[in-house]
Amino acid sequence: MYKILVVCLGNICRSPLAEGILKNYLPEEHFFIDSAGTGDYHIGDPPDRRSIQIAKQNNIDISTQKARQFTKEDFSKFNLIYVMDKSNYQNVLKLSTNKEDSKKVKLILGDKEVPDPYHGDLNDFEYVYNLLDKDIKKISQKLVTEFDI
Ligand code: 4NP
Repeated sequence: MYKILVVCLGNICRSPLAEGILKNYLPEEHFFIDSAGTGDYHIGDPPDRRSIQIAKQNNIDISTQKARQFTKEDFSKFNLIYVMDKSNYQNVLKLSTNKEDSKKVKLILGDKEVPDPYHGDLNDFEYVYNLLDKDIKKISQKLVTEFDI
């Protein structure tokens, strides 16, 4: 089983969408997908209603997800840790204790950042959804090829 964690700040807007989209593209018998936030503000909360709505419009149900905080134990539990922006990257790296851990952390869009839509409107959530979907589709195709699934 290959394990991927997606991380943002609150774990209510961006990473729940990324989790839902990854699960949509990757077969669950080979890939375990989870998400977390670097902050503790929303622990136990469902995703933001706007993320739930945009996902639903794309036939993805993320409504049962619950926010949790990233912990240093996640480094040993996951093979790959995708973050949304450079601030997430710094916050996750702060908790790493060795090179093997820090090598697992990658910006999901490569060199670009996924903007935080929290203070925006539904259009900003749609923009984030489309950015993530386009990128995750490619990532998923690569992973499936790489693992010869
Ligand atoms: P997310 O968005 O990191 O994409 O889940 C945010 C949600 C909540 C907060 C910040 C970002 N907040 O400060 O409460």
